Amino acid sequence: MNVTIFSGAAALAAAVADIVAERVRRSPSLVLGLPTGRTPLGLYRQLVRASREGGIDFSRVTTFNLDEFLGVLCHEAGSYRQYMERHFFRHVNLDRRQVHFLDGAADDPQAECDRYETAIEAAGGIDLQILGIGANGHIGFNEPGDRLVARTHVVRLRVETRRANASLFGGDVDRVPRYALSMGMATILHARAIVLMATGAEKAGCVAAMINGPLATRTPASFLQLHPEVRVLLDQAAARTLK
Ligand code: GLP
Repeated sequence: MNVTIFSGAAALAAAVADIVAERVRRSPSLVLGLPTGRTPLGLYRQLVRASREGGIDFSRVTTFNLDEFLGVLCHEAGSYRQYMERHFFRHVNLDRRQVHFLDGAADDPQAECDRYETAIEAAGGIDLQILGIGANGHIGFNEPGDRLVARTHVVRLRVETRRANASLFGGDVDRVPRYALSMGMATILHARAIVLMATGAEKAGCVAAMINGPLATRTPASFLQLHPEVRVLLDQAAARTLK
């Protein structure tokens, strides 16, 4: 893994924005995998600014988001779809027909997961997947456990993950859905290139396990060690316990 440590979150976000901008300039029809969470907020701010200043043209870019809560309508405030609208989609010139999202309100969640896999394949696969990491080592919503799932699937969220997402639901953990839809480990690992960003001391443990630890289903992010093109961008706090 190619690891870079930055003095702070702003410099890190700027570096990831530069990677995205450079990739889009080289391949205007890039297929981009996108995360939610607090970590990528600075990245989305930088990308919106670059887009307004004419530094990135998203008009031919295709996007696939990693995950969505189950049972949440796409226009509900807590949905990841609305997070993306607020922080990114509505501010840039993406073609809406090329924005892909898991529908958390689908009648048949497994069929919805299968539809997503087919859509990714039809787009030619993901060129660049941006990731955050959960403090428990999850990527997307692939939670730690005895086994991991390869393809897009329904996930039961762990209590710490629901707590970490409570701010989207008025701070009330009981309102955070118990299940979600997520790209699987193979969906993520088949991306041609991966950039993972992590900031803050609460990520130091999972970052060290991801980079220095064995491949373990209790740290789903550790499987990124199998991928030939992963860049990990950290701030100093998240890199604190790295070997
Ligand atoms: C969420 C998302 C992940 C994200 C992670 C970290 O639950 N499903 O895709 O990377 O948790 O979030 P944050 O950046 O807020 O720490």
